[in-house]
Amino acid sequence: MRYSLINLSTDLFADKFINMRTPLDSPFSPGSDTVPQIWAGRTEQLSDWRDVVRPRRLAGLHERGRTILGEAGLGKSSLVRRIAASAQNEGDWVTPQLRIPSGADPLKKVAEALLRLADQAGLSAMKEKQIGALLNRVESVAASGFSLSLRQASGPEPYTVLTELLIEIGRAALRQGDVVALIHIDEVQNISSEDALSQLLIALGDALTHEEQITVPGGVQFQCALPLAVYLTGLPEFADMAGARTGATFVRRFQTTMLAPLEDSDLLAALQPFVVEGWETPGSEGRSERVFMEPEAQQAIVDLCRGEPFLFQLAGERAWYAGSGDVITTAQVRAGWQSASAEAEAHVERILARLPQRERQFVEAMAGLSPEDRTLTRISEAMGYAKTSDAGPTSRRLDTVRGIVRRGKPYSFSHRAVEAALTSEWPDLE
Ligand SMILES: Nc1ncnc2c1ncn2[C@@H]1O[C@H](COP(=O)(O)OP(=O)(O)OP(=O)(O)O)[C@@H](O)[C@H]1O
Ligand SMILES: [Mg+2]
Repeated sequence: MRYSLINLSTDLFADKFINMRTPLDSPFSPGSDTVPQIWAGRTEQLSDWRDVVRPRRLAGLHERGRTILGEAGLGKSSLVRRIAASAQNEGDWVTPQLRIPSGADPLKKVAEALLRLADQAGLSAMKEKQIGALLNRVESVAASGFSLSLRQASGPEPYTVLTELLIEIGRAALRQGDVVALIHIDEVQNISSEDALSQLLIALGDALTHEEQITVPGGVQFQCALPLAVYLTGLPEFADMAGARTGATFVRRFQTTMLAPLEDSDLLAALQPFVVEGWETPGSEGRSERVFMEPEAQQAIVDLCRGEPFLFQLAGERAWYAGSGDVITTAQVRAGWQSASAEAEAHVERILARLPQRERQFVEAMAGLSPEDRTLTRISEAMGYAKTSDAGPTSRRLDTVRGIVRRGKPYSFSHRAVEAALTSEWPDLE
């Protein structure tokens, strides 16, 4: 009798244990293009939207579009998705994340999205002939894209049509009040046609800088900007592409941010709920349950991922999968990482593989020196250059365009996963 009671209770216990952590409940999301449930940092960029871009555009003040660039997996898409989600919560009109596939015509994709925004703005329902005609013209851009300007010698260029519609959407948002129309274009480095890129940037830039004449009661007139906001996201190369094509105009109309890896303190804070109160999971039979994490396990995840958001999610996911109990242990973090290390290595290898040969040589030469010896002179010597200045342009690009190297005294790596891969056994555990 006693025996069976014990049996019964251990069975119940085991059952509860098995159901504690399932893949279905994992809050970690490596690789998916959604806003991760476990969010770390990026407070500067989030507050830039909340405290600067949105309120200024709503107030009719000019504020440049935002370009957010960074190496693969640094969280560009997630960041702007999160901004877009918060905008949507405020009632703003938001395009979905418009991903430009390699070589695709961006004008088509943007035209399609603007037609949907126009719908949301109530423009499609308006009786005005002028608006109807404009929507028709945008529909031809959505169908033919950039090639429209080649096919029809006369008639407006596709970009002017897009600008006009953007302005109409802005006016509708102004009439509605307290609404911003937000456009997010992702993977902008994939726009291979220079002409299509320049048309796109001009269309967006012209709409952002448009001045609307407003008459307030009493007959006073003034000019204001429309409540429109644009976010472009993509790989660092985009800065060269846009700069080469539209140069100073692009810089005047878009403010570029290079994303850096996340700070360890932000990553620790993101995992803190696991340590303090436990992460709530749906659990079995409708009872919610909590999954905890040992503080050492929290630290281990942060140490392993080297500030890389993708690797952070991956390490967390693998640790979650490595056990089924209600505490994520350090041993599980390590076991999980072991199974992820090939993927972590491939992630960094992809970043290195995209570097032009000289840049790759530079980071390898730099990694070969001990940290205090990493001066431009020593690095260029190691690269076999006759003059130190020969390595100058490469080092400048690695710093300002890519955010991989910091040209301090001495030089250091800002991309900590790249550094770890080049200078240690990482991602393998000791
Ligand atoms: N602030 C963050 N906190 C926690 N996890 C994040 C954060 N930002 C991104 N991630 C996670 O990092 C991974 C990569 O994010 P994302 O896809 O946004 O990167 P990306 O820079 O757009 O990469 P790519 O260049 O490959 O498009 C995703 O799994 C995402 O969930
Ligand atoms: Mg992305």
